[in-house]
Amino acid sequence: MPYTPELQNLIKKVEETRPARVEKKKRGEEFPGIPVAERQEILRKFHPDFIEGTQRKIKVGPNKGYKITAEYVDILETKSRIDPDKIDLNTIAMETDVLVIGGGGAGNSAALLARENGAKVIIATKLRNGDANTMMAEGGIQGADKIWKDSPYNHYLDVMGGGHFVNDPELVYTLVTEAPKVLKWLESLGMIFSKYPDGKMKTMHGGGTSRKRMHYAGDITGAEIMRTIRDEVNNYPGDITVLEFAPAVDLILNDKGECAGAVLYNMETEEYFVVKAKSVVIATGGTGRLHIQSFMTTNHYGATGDGLVIAYRAGVPVNFLHTVQYHPTGAVFPEQAEGLLITEKVRGAGANIVNIHGEQFVFEREPRDVEASAIIRECSAERGNGVPTPTGKFGVWLDSPMIDSLSGEGTVRKEFPGKYILFKRYGIDITKEPMLIYPTLHYQNGGLEANSKCETKVPGLYVAGEVLGGVHGENRLMGNSLLDVTVFGRIAGVNAAEHAKGVSGTGKLSLDHVKKFNKEIKQAQIKDKIGPMLLPDYSNPEVRKRQLTTQYVGTIR
Ligand code: FUM
Repeated sequence: MPYTPELQNLIKKVEETRPARVEKKKRGEEFPGIPVAERQEILRKFHPDFIEGTQRKIKVGPNKGYKITAEYVDILETKSRIDPDKIDLNTIAMETDVLVIGGGGAGNSAALLARENGAKVIIATKLRNGDANTMMAEGGIQGADKIWKDSPYNHYLDVMGGGHFVNDPELVYTLVTEAPKVLKWLESLGMIFSKYPDGKMKTMHGGGTSRKRMHYAGDITGAEIMRTIRDEVNNYPGDITVLEFAPAVDLILNDKGECAGAVLYNMETEEYFVVKAKSVVIATGGTGRLHIQSFMTTNHYGATGDGLVIAYRAGVPVNFLHTVQYHPTGAVFPEQAEGLLITEKVRGAGANIVNIHGEQFVFEREPRDVEASAIIRECSAERGNGVPTPTGKFGVWLDSPMIDSLSGEGTVRKEFPGKYILFKRYGIDITKEPMLIYPTLHYQNGGLEANSKCETKVPGLYVAGEVLGGVHGENRLMGNSLLDVTVFGRIAGVNAAEHAKGVSGTGKLSLDHVKKFNKEIKQAQIKDKIGPMLLPDYSNPEVRKRQLTTQYVGTIR
C-alpha cells in the first residue's frame, strides 16, 4: 500500500529540511551524540528492558532466582514434550560422531568444520536447512581486516563498549581475532562480497563502530552467507546428513553426565526418535517469535528458543537474558511489512532519522539500545513527535532519499536492492520517499553459558551462534551476529569433532535429567506447560493478537 494522503503531506516536512541536513553532512557535521550520562537515563526511562514488571525470577533449574525477561522464564519453566519413561533409549534410529542441532549459520559452519576435522555429522533442523535468522540478516559482517586503518583491538573496544563492558572478555577476544580469518574463509567458499572495481572489499560503519569494518553483500549479506555455507554442506552428502523438519525436543545424557545425543521429533510423522552422538552442538538461534512485550519481530518463523530450553533442562546455565535487543528500524508501514528489518546500513550510508516535524532528534549511529530508546522517547507522550500510522501506531522517518543526494543517484538501488524492490511492490519508492520505522524485536543478547571453545558445563555439549550468551554483553552491535555465528560455529565444530575422537562408547543413555526437571517444575507448583515451543501458535488468539497488533511501548494512541 502506498503512503496515504495524510502521510504524503507529512513527508513534505521531511523534504523541506532535507537539503540543509544533506549539506551539513557533506560538510562533515554530524548531529551530536547522546552524552554517556544521558544514555543511561534514556535507557532506564524508555528501553523496554527497564519497564517495571516485565521481568521475573526463574523458579527452577541452574539459574533459580535470576530475574530475566518474563517470556524467557515462560519457556524455561516448562515440562518436557516427551514422557521420558516412554522413550525407548535402546532403539537408536541414527548414530553419529557429531550431532548439530540447528540449520542456520552457526549450525552449518559447525558441521563443515566438524567434517573437516574427521567427524561424521548429522544436522537436525526444525524447518528446512537455512531457515534461520542468518538468512534474514541484511547489513553485514564486521571484521578488522583493513590493517592500515583498523585492528582487532579497535573492534574489541567497540564490542565491549556496545555491550556496556559486561561482555565475556574471552569470547569477545575470540570473536574479533578470528574475524579476518572468517572473512577469508567465506570468500574462499565462494561468497560474493560487495567490492570496489579494484577488488577491494567495500566496508561501512554500523552503530557504535569506531572504524568502517562492516563487510557486506548488498543488503542481503545473511542470505549470501547462508547460500555459501549451505552449498558447501551439500557438497559432502556422505559425511554430513541433513535431517529437515526434525527438531530436538530433549538432550540425552549418559550415566556419566556427558551429552550423548538427543530425542528428535519427526514433524511429518509426529514420531519421536533417538539419535546417539559422541558430541552435540546446539545452534538453534534466537527467540524473536516469543514476541517479547508484544513487539513485532524481524526473526524467522522458527525462532522460539528451543536450544535454550533443552540445554537449561540438562543443567547448562543461562546468562544476559535480562536484556533483549530491539532493532531501531523496523518497518511500521505498510501494515503487511510491520516489524520487518530495515538494515542499519541505511543509516550507515547517511540516512537521518527525523520526527513528524522533519527534525533530526538523534545521531543515526548510536548503539542499538540507545538509538531504539531515543526513537521510543520521540514517539512517547513525553515528546509527542511520532508520526501516526493508519493502524493507530507511531513511527519516525528514516530518510533514505538522502543517500542518493549524498553519494550519487543510483546508490540506494545498488546498495539496497532487497529493500528497494520490496518497497516498490508496496508502491513506495525509497529513493524518493522516506521509510516509516519503529523499533522491532531483533536479537537475544544473552543465552547459554559456554567458554571460548564453545564448551558448556555438560561434557560433550557445545553451543554456538545466537543461543550462546556472553559475547555481546547487554547489547550487540550490528554485523557482529553474522560474525558470531561463523566464528563460534566453526570453533564448536572443531572442538566437537575433537571431543568425539576421545569418546569410545557413550555409556548408558539416560533421560534422568528430564525426569528431575519435570519434578522440580511440579514441586515449584508451576502451571503445566510444555516446551520447547517449536512453532509459534498463531491460532491462539492471544498470540495472534500480539502478531497482528503490536502494542508499541507507550505509543498506542
Ligand atoms: O541492521 C542490520 O542489517 C542487522 C544486522 C545485524 O543485526 O547484525
